[in-house]
Parts: sequence; C-alpha cells; structure tokens
Amino acid sequence: MLDVKMEKALNDQIVAEMYSAYLYLSMAAYYDGEGLSGFARWMRAQFGEEQVHALKMFAYVGERGGRVRLGAIDAPPSDWSSPLEVFEQTLAHEQMVTGLINKLVDLALELSDHATDNFLRWFVTEQVEEEDTADSIRQQLKLIGDNGQGLLMLDRELGTRVYTPPADSDRN
Ligand code: FEO
Repeated sequence: MLDVKMEKALNDQIVAEMYSAYLYLSMAAYYDGEGLSGFARWMRAQFGEEQVHALKMFAYVGERGGRVRLGAIDAPPSDWSSPLEVFEQTLAHEQMVTGLINKLVDLALELSDHATDNFLRWFVTEQVEEEDTADSIRQQLKLIGDNGQGLLMLDRELGTRVYTPPADSDRN
C-alpha cells in the first residue's frame, strides 16, 4: 500500500508530466508558426512521450492501491524569441523535472518504499536522456546562429523523428 505522502507526491508528478506535455505542444505550435515543421514534429513527439510518462505514474499509483486525483495544469507560455530560446527553455525544464524525480526518489528512500524507488529508476534513466537530447539540439542551434541554411537542415533532421508509444505504455 502506498504511503499517503508518496501518493500525493506521485499525483503531483502526474500533473508535472502533463504540464511538460502541454509545454511541448505549445512549442510545436510556435515552430509551426515559424514554418519549421520538422521542429514542430519533434515537439509533438515529445508531447506524446510526456503523456506516456504521466500514464506510467497513473498506472503505478493504482497498482499500489493508491488513488489518482488529477490537479490543474498551468497554461504554458506560447511565445519565444527564437528557435534557440525554445531549446534553452526545454533544457532548463528537463533539469527542473530531474530535480522533481530526484525528490521523489528521496521520499521513497525516506519511507523505505523500495517498490517506488525501483519504479522511479526508469525515470531517473529517462531524465539523463531527456537532458542530453535537449542539450545537444540546443548546442547545434547555437552553432547554427543566424545561418538559415543550417536551420533548415536541422529542421529536416528533426522532422524524421517518429515516436511510437510502447504497446504497454500505461504500465510501468
Ligand atoms: Fe517526463 Fe521530459 O520528462
């Protein structure tokens, strides 16, 4: 049975993952508006991935006899000054999410909740990848600077991203 503190913390994290999804969908809209359909596609894939993160938590809370109670999702920003600023914010956002996951792990350990600690390991690993990917695209955008040709090439590359949710994406 899930401790009530852990249940609350996981419920909060479901909202945080849904906010991430919402943020990336908003970023997709920004890129669409800028005519960068590859970046937009990449962000829509990210939108899908974040929803899977929320669903994993949702399923886990239920499996442990907890109760999911959904909270409000804040409105994300909708304007950015440049394609680079979007990825600077993406990296900062993922670093913030890593901090949230680490706090969940701390709580699981404090409560000797080894099942939740084990469940969260997937997220710990995922955050390393999320930060690395965002940072790599941010660095490429920095190198590209004002070079329109370079931006279009990166747009084409990011447009090849296909995100297929795992068949059991609502399970942990
Ligand atoms: Fe669900 Fe991008 O972390």
